[in-house]
Amino acid sequence: MKQLLILCFAALATACCSNQPPQEAEVVQTATPVVHGAEITLPAPYLKAGLTIGEALANRRSWREYSPEKLSLEELSGVLYAAAGINRPENDHLTAPSALALYPIRVYAFFEEGIYRYEAKGHKLVRVKEGNFMAVSGAQPFVATAALNLVYVADLSVYADKPIPAEHVRYLCGQDAAGYAENVNLYTAGTGLRSITRGSAAPELLQAIGLEGEQYFFALAQSVGK
Ligand SMILES: Cc1cc2nc3c(=O)[nH]c(=O)nc-3n(C[C@H](O)[C@H](O)[C@H](O)COP(=O)(O)O)c2cc1C
Repeated sequence: MKQLLILCFAALATACCSNQPPQEAEVVQTATPVVHGAEITLPAPYLKAGLTIGEALANRRSWREYSPEKLSLEELSGVLYAAAGINRPENDHLTAPSALALYPIRVYAFFEEGIYRYEAKGHKLVRVKEGNFMAVSGAQPFVATAALNLVYVADLSVYADKPIPAEHVRYLCGQDAAGYAENVNLYTAGTGLRSITRGSAAPELLQAIGLEGEQYFFALAQSVGK
């Protein structure tokens, strides 16, 4: 079932009063259910959704209570664009910054239905595993109740030819992941969603994703929902 949200009242009201054509057509944002499968193609993010950045900052907080309500496809698109969407196609740079522009962070989306990898090119989710692995993406009971858990995994191979001490590399990866997560926190705070950055996960997390060996490490996680 689709809910319709009518936006851009202000632009239309201004246009009516001044007898000028509206600057922007009436925008109807739909709430499409997510259909799980081998891939979830995300719609282009709606860039005018939500509160002002100042209001989002004022609303930002960590949430540990979530309703069973799922995210719509449009909300999922907005969350992943905030985390790691390409905002400059000319160089594939993302909405979040990255030390040396190396982008070691891989974003995994955990749903009740399965685990997906986010591919910024194509703005889509590609399923890596079916099944409910929500609980291994965290160490607290509320994690399994959120609609979505994001896991930020660092791929150390991007630093292979860089003369940077291993300990510093791990800091940089963690700092990159924090930027992704905070973009999402501000997006959720501005769009009526809930989220929390988390530093904890179950020891079997990487195995559940299918990433083993020394190339990868768990950098950060985040619950998102309503
Ligand atoms: C890097 C990082 C890791 C965190 N890990 C967890 C966590 O594992 N579990 C949790 O409940 N909260 C976690 N938090 C949330 C903090 O507890 C929370 O930000 C803090 O209590 C301040 O509350 P506020 O975010 O509502 O302002 C984490 C926050 C950050 C920045």
